[in-house]
Amino acid sequence: MKEGLPLERLQKYIARCGLASRRRAEEMIKEGKVAVNGRVVTEMGVTVDPAKDKVVVGGKRLTPKKSPTYLLLYKPAGVVTTCDDPRRRKTVMDYIPRDERLFPVGRLDYQTEGLVLMTDDGELANKLTHPRYRMPKTYLVETAGLLSGEKAAILRKGVRLEDGVTAPAKLEIEYYSKEASRFSLTITEGRNHQVRRMCDALGLPVTYLCRTKMGFLDLKGLVPGSYRRLSAGEARRLRS
Ligand code: URA
Repeated sequence: MKEGLPLERLQKYIARCGLASRRRAEEMIKEGKVAVNGRVVTEMGVTVDPAKDKVVVGGKRLTPKKSPTYLLLYKPAGVVTTCDDPRRRKTVMDYIPRDERLFPVGRLDYQTEGLVLMTDDGELANKLTHPRYRMPKTYLVETAGLLSGEKAAILRKGVRLEDGVTAPAKLEIEYYSKEASRFSLTITEGRNHQVRRMCDALGLPVTYLCRTKMGFLDLKGLVPGSYRRLSAGEARRLRS
C-alpha cells in the first residue's frame, strides 16, 4: 500500500507466499482475513510492495516462498557428480556457486562429460530420476571398433545386459570404420554406466562419452566447466 516498485496485486502475493490459490486469496480478502500494514483490506485491486509492506493473514506474517534454483552445468571429464568426494577429486560443486546449496540430479561417470542439472528442488529431482518419467537423454558416443549394421540394430532394439534387456533407443550414426565409430544414442532409462555397458556388450569400448541433451535441454551456449541458469519458462516446462 506504500508507494514503490515493483508492486504486486495482493491476491497474487498471497498465492506466491504459498498460502492459497489466487482465487482463494481473493475470497480471504473479501472475508476480511487479510491485513496490510495493520489495516484490514476487503476491497479488490490493492497492490503491495513485497519489499516493504507487511501482509498478515490469520495473525501470521506472510513471506514469499523462495523459488527453486535450476542450473545447467557442462560437466568436464575427470569430475565426480557428487557434492563431495572422500578422494578429494574435483566435483561438480567446484563449478557452481557453493552458497546456493544445490545438488546434482542423476549422475555422469567420472570420465563422461556433458549436461548435469543442479537444483535445490528435491521433488523435481525425484521425478526426473524416476524410471516412470522416462526422460530421454542423448549421448554423443565414440567407440573403438566398427559399429556394424547388426550392432546398430541391437542398440536400437535393446541390448541384453546382466540387469535385463535395455529399452528401445534412438541411434543416429555419424561415421563408422574398422578402427572407430561415432554416433548419438538417446535412451530413456538411467541405469548405472548404461551406455558404456551397452557398447561393451557389443564389443565396442567407449573412448568418449558426452551427454548432449536431457529432454528439451541441450548444451547450446555452454563449454566444459560453464553453467547457465534455466529461465523461468524452462523451469516451468521442466516441472510440468
Ligand atoms: N551412461 C554411461 O555409461 N555413463 C554415463 O556417465 C552416462 C550414461
